[in-house]
Amino acid sequence: MKLKITKAVFPVAGMGSRFLPATKATAKEMLPVVDKPLIQYAVEEAVAAGITDMVFITGRNKRAIEDHFDKAYELEATLEAQGKKALLEVVQSVVPKHVNCIYIRQAEPLGLGHAVLCAKPVIQDEPFVVILADDLIDGVPPIVKQMVDVFAQYQCSILGVQEVPREHTKQYGIVSSSNLAPNVERVHGIVEKPKPEVAPSTLAVVGRYILTPRIFHYLENIQPGTGGEIQLTDGIEALMGEEQLLAYRFNGIRYDCGSKLGYLKAQVAYGLQHKDLRDEFAAYLKTLA
Ligand code: G1P
Repeated sequence: MKLKITKAVFPVAGMGSRFLPATKATAKEMLPVVDKPLIQYAVEEAVAAGITDMVFITGRNKRAIEDHFDKAYELEATLEAQGKKALLEVVQSVVPKHVNCIYIRQAEPLGLGHAVLCAKPVIQDEPFVVILADDLIDGVPPIVKQMVDVFAQYQCSILGVQEVPREHTKQYGIVSSSNLAPNVERVHGIVEKPKPEVAPSTLAVVGRYILTPRIFHYLENIQPGTGGEIQLTDGIEALMGEEQLLAYRFNGIRYDCGSKLGYLKAQVAYGLQHKDLRDEFAAYLKTLA
């Protein structure tokens, strides 16, 4: 029987220290790109792939995320009373009605692997997606949908990857691999944030994972790795000893919204695509050139 993916995990407990003071009192995942917060782009990507259960691993200062995906009684009543139908529709369609949002608190910031492990009671024994909202990826079809389609064929864990400049390897999980099919690689090794001189390749994992539930077994048993944290990469490396692991070179443009420069690039790119803004914004940008 072919397995289907219905659950996505969003690790959103990080401090967002690179965006202080903007993130002093709110979540970095709530930073908007044009008019939508990063976390909403991530959830929309999951919805587009047929996922119905959104599991958020949250921490302190993350209440805004729960509120964002909840009903906003006062706001909705006010918009309704004012006859602002279009805005009411925007507020009410943040998540489709058939989607469930589930919140789990990660009490201590023990690493990405630990955050994913916190989802175990909800995921149980199904394959699932992990989406890092600060990797905003613009693609058609959306990247998670592309990956779920690859999963439908291979039924194993799959990492979303792209080539990065060698001097950037120390920001990523880096894989060594051999080509299996167009855009699909068989992974032989994975290492967290290697220095450029020792990186096995320049193929980097960027914020999209499909994992089999067996990953939990390894996340429960590995020791803290790079930065003293329980690394998802280390759990994946251990999983690879037992199961096939693939990497998928997705088709899309990725904006690293965990960095200020990447975030600014995303604003420009999404501003230039926005139906109400693009012409005036493009004209404005030309005046700067
Ligand atoms: C995390 C992962 C890393 C991955 C990266 C993608 O690192 O640990 O393997 O390549 O996300 O953005 P972070 O950016 O949280 O330091």
